[in-house]
Amino acid sequence: MITAIYPGSFDPVSNGHLDIIKRASGIFDRVVIAILNNRAKRPLFDLEERIEMLEEVTQDLPNVTITSFDGLLVDFSKKIGANVIIRGIRAVSDFESELMMAQTNKQLYDELETMFFATSAKYSYISSSTIREIASFGGEIDQFVPQEICERVYGKYKYLQG
Ligand code: PNS
Repeated sequence: MITAIYPGSFDPVSNGHLDIIKRASGIFDRVVIAILNNRAKRPLFDLEERIEMLEEVTQDLPNVTITSFDGLLVDFSKKIGANVIIRGIRAVSDFESELMMAQTNKQLYDELETMFFATSAKYSYISSSTIREIASFGGEIDQFVPQEICERVYGKYKYLQG
């Protein structure tokens, strides 16, 4: 049984993330989405909200589970018995840092392989940070995030729009 771990911040989950989750769920026996609980960062959505959103958008994918971790990804991967790390590559600009991360993780834990998914072209320019920025100025984000997530993101900025 091959378990893949898909780590990230997911602040919030985007259509690009969801596309990768769906494709991975068709390939691996089990996909564990692991949200980094990074206390140094101040996310827009707290951990519980991010878990809830991911649970909502993956409810029709029975082999996908959502969890969070803190500390090193390789330690958490070992703990849950993951064999593969999944990361999406949107553009060449992602590649350098992703390659470095993959090689570091491989050095730390040789049994864990990183596999890159080429992000579908229609999502290749989307990032959670641009989604947050567009929403903060009242712009339309419905083409970038799953429908269920839209209102939650706007809700975070309502106070700005009076
Ligand atoms: O969605 P993101 O913010 O690009 O995800 C980055 C993430 C969570 C995959 C990365 O920061 C991570 O794995 N952090 C855990 C700490 C760790 O293991 N660092 C060593 C690997 S370079």
